[in-house]
Amino acid sequence: MTEQIFIPKAYKNTIEKGSYTWSSPSNIALVKYWGKKEHQIPENPSISFTLNECKTITKLSFSKKEDNTGFSFEVFLDNEKKDDFKPKIETFFKRIESYLPFLKTYHFKIETSNTFPHSSGIASSASGMSALALCLMSIEKALNPDITNEDFIQKTSFLARLGSGSACRSLEGDLVVWGKHDEIDRSSDLFGVKYPFEVHQNFKNYNDTILLVDKGEKQVSSTVGHNLMHNHPFAKERFKQAHSNLSTLINVFKTGDLKAFIEIVESEALTLHAMMMTSMPHFILMKPNTLEIINKIWNFRHKTGSNVCFTLDAGANVHVLYPENETEIVLEFIKNELVAFCQKGEYINDKIGFGAKLL
Ligand code: PMV
Repeated sequence: MTEQIFIPKAYKNTIEKGSYTWSSPSNIALVKYWGKKEHQIPENPSISFTLNECKTITKLSFSKKEDNTGFSFEVFLDNEKKDDFKPKIETFFKRIESYLPFLKTYHFKIETSNTFPHSSGIASSASGMSALALCLMSIEKALNPDITNEDFIQKTSFLARLGSGSACRSLEGDLVVWGKHDEIDRSSDLFGVKYPFEVHQNFKNYNDTILLVDKGEKQVSSTVGHNLMHNHPFAKERFKQAHSNLSTLINVFKTGDLKAFIEIVESEALTLHAMMMTSMPHFILMKPNTLEIINKIWNFRHKTGSNVCFTLDAGANVHVLYPENETEIVLEFIKNELVAFCQKGEYINDKIGFGAKLL
C-alpha cells in the first residue's frame, strides 16, 4: 500500500459551510516511537494505550471562500486567539493538501480546548492533531458520503500522522499499533491500527495516573528529539529491540503476565531516555523528582508485590500504570508517597479509553 490510495477521486457533493466538533484522546506509548524517516515514517513499530480523560475538543467551522490561492484559517485556544499555533497548522495543511484538495477552498475557524492544563507538560499534539484530522475528514465524508467507516478511520490516522507521528494512535481504543511489524498483519508505517489480538482481562480498564513533575514547556521538541536518532551510535540496536519488545508484548497481552509487562514497559521508558542521554547533543529530561518517584515505585513493588509500574514520555512527568484491581491501594500509595514530588501536588487520574467521539 502506498500514500497514493489516500488521494481522493472527484467529490460528489458541494458544501458551502458547516461545522464539526470532535473530541480526541491522548495516548501513552508502551513500546516507544523514537526516530523517524522522511514524511513522518517511523523507524520502528510502537504500541500505545489510548487514554480516556486527557482529551482535546476541537470545533472546525468552514465556509467557502472566493479564491483558492492560499490556506485561510484562524485558531482559538479556550476562546483566545492563538496566532502562535498557526505555523504548525500551516505546515500540517501543506503536508496534507494533496490528500484533501478542498483545503484551499474554505476559510476555517479552529476552536480548541484541552481537558488537561495546557502547560502541564502533557503533549497535546497527539490529541490536538487527531481532533483536527477528524474534523477535516468529516468534511471529506460530507463531500463524499460513500467513504466507509474503516476507510474514514484509516485515512484520518494517515493524516494525523502527518501532523504529529503519535497522533495516528489517538483515534481508536484501547490499544493501537503503528509501524510495520512482522507478526501484526495489517500494521503499517502509514497509519495506526487497532491491536488485533486477544487482550487478557488483567489489562482491561488499566489505570494511568499522570504525575506532573514539571509543568514547563518541553525542553526538546519532538522534531529535534527524533532527529537525534540519525547517526545515533545505538540506533540500529534500539530499532531492533522495539520489534522484539512488541513481539514479547503480544504474548504478554494474551496471557496477562503482569510481571513481564512491567519489565518491558519500564525498560522502554528508560531506553527512550537513554537514547536522549547518549545522543549528540545530549539531554537529560528527567528531573530529580522523576527519579525519586521511580525509586518509590520500585520500593513499593518490592515491599507489597504490587503490579504498579511507570512509563515516561519525552519529559519529566511520570505515568503510573496499574491494573484495575489495584486501584485503591495504588491510589493510596500515590497520595501518601508520590504526590509530594509533583509540582504543586498536581496529578491526573486517567485510564485506558475507547477513542475519539463526534460531538
Ligand atoms: O508524536 P511525536 O512526534 O510528538 O513523538 C512522540 C514520541 C514519544 O511520545 C516520546 C513516544 C511515543 O511513541 O509516543
